[in-house]
Amino acid sequence: MKETIIVTGGAGFIGSNFVLHWLAQESSPLVNLDCLTYAGNLGNLASISGHGRYEFIHGDINDRGLVARLLRQHQPAALVHFAAESHVDRSILGPEEFVRTNIHGTFSLLEEARRYYSDLAPSDKQRFRFLHVSTDEVYGSLRDDDPAFCETTAYAPNSPYAASKAASDHLVRAYFHTYNLPTLTTNCSNNYGPFQFPEKLIPLMIHNALQGKALPVYGDGKNIRDWLYVEDHCSALRCVLHNGRCGETYNIGGRSERYNIDVVHTICAVLDELRPNSPHKPHALLVNFVPDRPGHDRRYAIDSSRIERELGWKPQMTFESGIRDTVAWYLDHQDWVAEVTSGSYRDWIEAQYAKRGPGA
Ligand code: NAD
Ligand code: TYD
Repeated sequence: MKETIIVTGGAGFIGSNFVLHWLAQESSPLVNLDCLTYAGNLGNLASISGHGRYEFIHGDINDRGLVARLLRQHQPAALVHFAAESHVDRSILGPEEFVRTNIHGTFSLLEEARRYYSDLAPSDKQRFRFLHVSTDEVYGSLRDDDPAFCETTAYAPNSPYAASKAASDHLVRAYFHTYNLPTLTTNCSNNYGPFQFPEKLIPLMIHNALQGKALPVYGDGKNIRDWLYVEDHCSALRCVLHNGRCGETYNIGGRSERYNIDVVHTICAVLDELRPNSPHKPHALLVNFVPDRPGHDRRYAIDSSRIERELGWKPQMTFESGIRDTVAWYLDHQDWVAEVTSGSYRDWIEAQYAKRGPGA
């Protein structure tokens, strides 16, 4: 077995941040398997094209022959699995792709990893890891006074996205208990930062505000999410990969619970400051309350004391600094935004927000 790691979904938001983080922090090679859906963008990785320790493979995690070949060829020390359909609203409009990628795709990887693992020498078996990157949404919704999700909270997914991730988590758990595959699972809160596709709350609001378009806030805007800067997520994943206990799950959070409406107002205030001559100032006047998302979870909160206590990880970025950096990043990378929002993006925005009211 070599030092190489194979990453799936490394051209998406978190995956591409992880690939860049890994190559900067570690000395081992990385192979990135991604089929480049609308959410995958090689532009995120332009700065490492030609890097000696990096290889991109264009392919689907459901292509078992390809996955088997990659495992044979690269003899990786770890498989880090990000590839997924990741947007709740898309899962409501079309759940089938979520079942195909998130459930069946994870199953395909687990099957091929199991075969690969069973042929490893005993010392390599000790080292190999399958790290499954999952979400806090598998736990469902909290009331205001409920304690935060911990690793023993019962699963109660409410959207097709959350249900598909929950199913994949269960498969990963079963492969540890049944086949001794050395798995690790992480359940993380909402990420934000560079390279996030502008269909998710934070980049969508920045993108719309810059163009003077309405900022569609679902329901009363009082849903709560816990926000984690993506670089902090990447460092947590490295910690888990190096020091996590096999068969365990680790909750990862930012200790930054915020109402959605407060997040949107913060973005507007940062834009007012960074774009003092904008014709759309004050940007908060663009806020538009629109009909709620079906099955909308009210609150997510993460208790990350296990990873903090056992692995010594803590988020480094405060929400206030992270959101400023993120708004500044989007202002500086309008070319990237223009590229990823061309083509099918427009059709999606039309389908998604047409029904949510005028201007949304
Ligand atoms: P993303 O949608 O930005 O990227 C997903 C990537 O997977 C894309 O590059 C896409 O091309 C690739 N992909 C999709 N289907 C594939 C397939 N069949 N074969 C190969 N590649 C495929 O997602 P993200 O926001 O970066 O999330 C990454 C992972 O982290 C997901 O598993 C998600 O569930 C999890 N997660 C995300 C968040 C968040 O806030 N974004 C929070 C917690 C956990
Ligand atoms: P999102 O970024 O889609 O992440 P998730 O649903 O996985 O938490 O949404 C974050 C929160 O913002 C969620 O409560 C839904 C809300 N939201 C809006 O109010 N308006 C929007 O246009 C979007 C995309 C999300």
